[in-house]
Amino acid sequence: MSKKLRAAVTGAGWPAWQHIKAYQWSSDVELVALCDSDAEKLKKTADQYCIPQRFTSFDEMLNSGKIDVVSICTPNFLHALMSINAMEKGIHVLCEKPMAITVSDGLKMLDVSRRTGMTLMVAHQQRFTAQAQYLKKLVSDGCLGEIYHIRATWVRRRGIPGLGGWFTQKEKSGGGALMDIGVHLIDLSMWLLDFPEPLQVVSSWGSRFGVHGKGASTGYPATNNEKNSLFDVDDYVFAQINLCGGASLQLECSWAGHIRGEEFNLEIWGDKGGARLFPLTIYTDHKGLPIDSAPVLPETNPFEAEINSFIDSVKKGTTLLCHPEQSIRTVELIEMIYKSGTPEKTEVLKAESAPI
Ligand SMILES: NC(=O)c1ccc[n+]([C@@H]2O[C@H](COP(=O)([O-])OP(=O)(O)OC[C@H]3O[C@@H](n4cnc5c(N)ncnc54)[C@H](O)[C@@H]3O)[C@@H](O)[C@H]2O)c1
Repeated sequence: MSKKLRAAVTGAGWPAWQHIKAYQWSSDVELVALCDSDAEKLKKTADQYCIPQRFTSFDEMLNSGKIDVVSICTPNFLHALMSINAMEKGIHVLCEKPMAITVSDGLKMLDVSRRTGMTLMVAHQQRFTAQAQYLKKLVSDGCLGEIYHIRATWVRRRGIPGLGGWFTQKEKSGGGALMDIGVHLIDLSMWLLDFPEPLQVVSSWGSRFGVHGKGASTGYPATNNEKNSLFDVDDYVFAQINLCGGASLQLECSWAGHIRGEEFNLEIWGDKGGARLFPLTIYTDHKGLPIDSAPVLPETNPFEAEINSFIDSVKKGTTLLCHPEQSIRTVELIEMIYKSGTPEKTEVLKAESAPI
């Protein structure tokens, strides 16, 4: 395939802007269309990025016959339906995280991708930072030895993305902090570990801020504050996940908490060495003494790297860097974490995976 792929984006929020910029940087792509059901947001973003074709209806955009690939950047509950409709029309899909709000929706998406032969990738852009790529190579090359633990943290002091908006309504989001930012922690950690099967999950989660109308991020657009103030999701989740093969994963995730401030990091424990992701630091021993080393990495834009990888896979058939099977595993683990702990009780959940 030598001619440029015609790309479209649907949803005109922050992640969509990153997809738009990355498509516009790519020499293999022409960004031809944008869709948003909100005509004002559509016009503002399309004008800002000079996008020629504009649609308020996703189906109309799909039926226009003008696109080869589409980025789905709409609220979580629309991911499965929109991805399936696009693939059925012969359009390759890059879908924002989380893949879907249930495992069964994720499995339907995978089925359609397999049947139609259309590429389906979930936008786990955290895998594409220079730090994560370097760390993955260190782990794969055995430089840190056997990895027996990962501690993954994404906590915010006041960071609920729009009180009462779709993010805080379970029906539309599938969950709160865990679905929104915990999904990155789970995907990154499980990818570094090569997606071992979960054995046991113990979790504790709930809401201490959102249910009382507190904890909203000041940085989030007020458009997300819908009139109804429904908040029926988690704003904190703590979990311990024991994995087949002996490794464990400790997860700390919150949209709001009485803590110093936002922290996003991953610490990896291996029997030959360890590492911290931000700033990337490798912990080893040399002649009996602990050594910290800090690789100097080139500045990269993870969204550009993600979109280049997706486009290469569509155009040249290169291996997908984020397999949809893995994205389903991540949603499955999220479901297990929610099932294992409730605000009332916590129980150890023995894993039973969906056949993929
Ligand atoms: N990868 C990341 O780092 C990252 C960051 C933020 C959000 N996200 C994900 O991106 C998605 C969107 O999040 P957001 O923060 O932009 O939300 P948002 O609410 O700011 O934007 C969503 C947009 O989708 C539009 N929309 C809603 N229904 C539509 C429909 N039927 N057809 C067309 N457009 C429709 C809305 O009008 C809105 O403009 C979510 O799945 C979220 O999890 C990813």
